[in-house]
Amino acid sequence: MRSFFNVSDIGDLGKALREAKEVKANPFGWKELGKDKTIILIFFNNSLRTRLSSQKAALNLGMNPIVLNVNGDSWKLETELGVVMDGDKSEHLREAIPVIGSYCDLIGVRSFAGLSDREFDYAESILSQFIEYSGKPVISLESATVHPCQAFADLITIEEYKTKPRPKVVMTWAPHPRALPQAVPNSFAEWMNAADVDFVITHPEGYELDPRFVGDAKVEYDQMKALEGADFVYAKNWSCPGVTNPADYGKVISKDMGWMVDAAHMAVTNHAKFMHCLPVRRNMIVSDEVIDSPDSIVIPEAANRVVSAQVVMKRMLEDAL
Ligand code: CP
Repeated sequence: MRSFFNVSDIGDLGKALREAKEVKANPFGWKELGKDKTIILIFFNNSLRTRLSSQKAALNLGMNPIVLNVNGDSWKLETELGVVMDGDKSEHLREAIPVIGSYCDLIGVRSFAGLSDREFDYAESILSQFIEYSGKPVISLESATVHPCQAFADLITIEEYKTKPRPKVVMTWAPHPRALPQAVPNSFAEWMNAADVDFVITHPEGYELDPRFVGDAKVEYDQMKALEGADFVYAKNWSCPGVTNPADYGKVISKDMGWMVDAAHMAVTNHAKFMHCLPVRRNMIVSDEVIDSPDSIVIPEAANRVVSAQVVMKRMLEDAL
């Protein structure tokens, strides 16, 4: 595996889930694989889970993880090509990336969407430069349009908690005070479409996700109707993807608190498990009552981030042998 970006990069999902189970049962079983190998984890944006789970996964495999907080620890990096660098950015990605690549065996990159230029964001301009110029396998640790490590962990969690062969999984938009990227819902949709689940997306009008991620999923604008009989409720906020109205790209176009997942929403489900990628704003996205209930699986979901990262790193190391 040279890059981990789309669901297709992981190949057969059944095989990946079996491998995740093996890795979870025996996390130190591949300790020799990463001996004398280094992974550099580059963060252009904040993180709690991705930073820690990626380091833990690397350590489980015997690797040496190095974390670089761009804009905090290093020179400020210019990401756009063809600009006159007369501002506060001292170094261009064109030099920084091959230098980073010369110090390591694997690279992980977190770089959120700017949410002002849809074309730039959806071209995955930053991650693409890492893939092109580093010479090393690259993992998206949430890039402009996708968060595959999160979606893989979500799928592992659904596999662990499902009580029927083909559960109904509903991803619902929920309100948030600030504009958030579409990477998590894009990847969740992409991975659920590839998995053996009955997948429904619900959101207010105007929040339509990019068709390449929605695929054949059912989109239902009536949230309560969508939630009926759900086995899993996956809540997430996202800003306007600009699909129906490009001028609204990256904007908050609704703060309708009626979309917050509370006990009344969960009551129409099939005793659904509640999921969220975290961090979550309580009593905006989800009520205290729901996230604190026994049906909330947000903590085991986050714990599975180590498993998903470890499977991806393990495969990259094996492919390099
Ligand atoms: N879910 C997730 O990626 O969390 P962090 O932003 O804390 O890494």
